[in-house]
Amino acid sequence: MPERKLLSGGRLVVASHNPGKLREIADLVAPYGLDTVSAGVLGVSEPEETETTFAGNARLKALHSARATGLPALSDDSGLEVALLGGDPGVYSARWAGPSKDFAAAMRKVHDALDQRNGWQKDGGPEANFTAALCLAWPDGETAVFEGKVFGRLVWPPRGGRGFGYDPMFLADGETETFGEMEPGQKHAISHRARAFRLFVAACLS
Ligand code: IMP
Repeated sequence: MPERKLLSGGRLVVASHNPGKLREIADLVAPYGLDTVSAGVLGVSEPEETETTFAGNARLKALHSARATGLPALSDDSGLEVALLGGDPGVYSARWAGPSKDFAAAMRKVHDALDQRNGWQKDGGPEANFTAALCLAWPDGETAVFEGKVFGRLVWPPRGGRGFGYDPMFLADGETETFGEMEPGQKHAISHRARAFRLFVAACLS
């Protein structure tokens, strides 16, 4: 069944309270003529992320905002998956940074967990990927989820002051700069979020 379309000029709630994601989603949405507003600005609370998959948490967040506002809402659930750590931190990527959202500490935790498994001795560095699930939800409960991934290696020490979260320790395959060093436009050309976003555009924007 074809997805329900968003019309140019229509309002779209961005169902995230994460400033890094809000910035990236605003950049990605900008060319499409949608009138976006963040859930935080509309006073919508952040629901607890109780699901165990990116798609499940994305659906929960988008539905929460769509129902609270009566507007279509786009959410993002994403994270870093490290092969040698069995996919951790995965859906718990934000939680590894603790309540103070200390990503220097979260990156250090990933480093130490890999150290215990001799992960840094692997040629080229330990394998990892980012995954993003974007969900568009409508106030009547209809949802559509789009998933994107980017594969690469981890580096230590972290490099670069751009981006957010685990960006400074992630080197995408074929690149020489980490996501923390790249210009935003370069990250948008290859990122997990941009890949999911392109699927969303193809399906939901006319
Ligand atoms: P959540 O989707 O709100 O649970 O948070 C996902 C977490 O994964 C973020 O807080 C970041 O730590 C991490 N993450 C997701 N996407 C990216 C990215 O593009 N770069 C760096 N870290 C990311």
